[in-house]
Amino acid sequence: DDPTLAARARDAKAALGERVMVLGHHYQRDQVIEFADARGDSFELSRQAATAEAPYLVFCGVHFMAESASILGREDQTVILPDLAAGCSMADMAEGRQVVDAWARLERAGVAAQTVPLTYMNSTAAIKSFCGEHGGAICTSSNAPAAMRWAFEQAPGGGDDGKVLFLPDQHLGRNTAVLSLGLSLDDCVVYDPWQPDGGLTDEQLREARVILWKGHCSVHARFQPSMVERIRAERPGVEVLVHPECRHEVVLEADRVGSTGQIIRWVEQAPAGATVAIATELNLVKRLAEEHPDKDVVFLDDTVCFCATMNRIDLPHLVWVLEALVAGEVVNEVRVDATTRRWARVALERMLALPG
Ligand code: 13P
Ligand code: SF4
Repeated sequence: DDPTLAARARDAKAALGERVMVLGHHYQRDQVIEFADARGDSFELSRQAATAEAPYLVFCGVHFMAESASILGREDQTVILPDLAAGCSMADMAEGRQVVDAWARLERAGVAAQTVPLTYMNSTAAIKSFCGEHGGAICTSSNAPAAMRWAFEQAPGGGDDGKVLFLPDQHLGRNTAVLSLGLSLDDCVVYDPWQPDGGLTDEQLREARVILWKGHCSVHARFQPSMVERIRAERPGVEVLVHPECRHEVVLEADRVGSTGQIIRWVEQAPAGATVAIATELNLVKRLAEEHPDKDVVFLDDTVCFCATMNRIDLPHLVWVLEALVAGEVVNEVRVDATTRRWARVALERMLALPG
């Protein structure tokens, strides 16, 4: 560890002044989040990017978040991701070409016309663009219920005939459909892009209300219902807070389910002395434990740990991109081409216009 790095980051930020805004996702390391001008969940950070004045946005998060900032920001703004290898394994589970194939599959089954595509923010710009062009939108974990209701309202025919194609996180899609919209598990089918015909018959596609893409988050999918059972046995009275990327069986056992921003608010609101167990990424849980010494904030299970790609953004990378800017050089720019940007922006703006 180089003890001068924090001072160098401070100096570079001071030299850049209003010309740079650093955005930091809640999963970022302490050494990085300390320098964020705005912290947030992915919804809050997309709002911040849409209204930011600074010509340079340094995004401390993962690639799809930086892409979204580039789509929502002004064309003369430059978005920088301190390490371009900071991807998201879930976003990598759906490629634009596979989504085009899936839509053709829905057309063959005769259901595309009544289907609205809805993609989680954790997806490539190409998929966001596809959704915008096909009448759909984006959601994040904090507005997925409102977005899925909206999508059903948009479906031609609406009512009972409408369908939603939900990309790429099957868990967020299932949890939202069943727990927030009151659909049944039988209303949901899983489309597997690696199987011929998505692994579904025409009849299954016709009967489904929600077609879930077979994607997941490799960090959140490791939480298990047995971990909730164990913590309840060990710490009677514990409140269990989970992210909606967790499996449905885990969410069913929890007390509350919400985005990283919502989890933070619940911890803040918990009374002194409360015990709270959290199922989400470890940097955030550790920070919450440190910030709330009057409460017992624990990780649901310590065999599940950091998001490896979020953790790629470290202080040396942040200092590198900031000092390059001071020297008049842009490194690690993330920019979305104009055609993709146009429809992706439509889809993102539909999300930003949702109630709540
Ligand atoms: P939030 O929308 O809660 O910030 O989550 C983003 C994410 O990548 C969770 O894994
Ligand atoms: Fe992607 Fe999961 Fe990491 Fe979130 S925690 S960025 S969904 S891999």
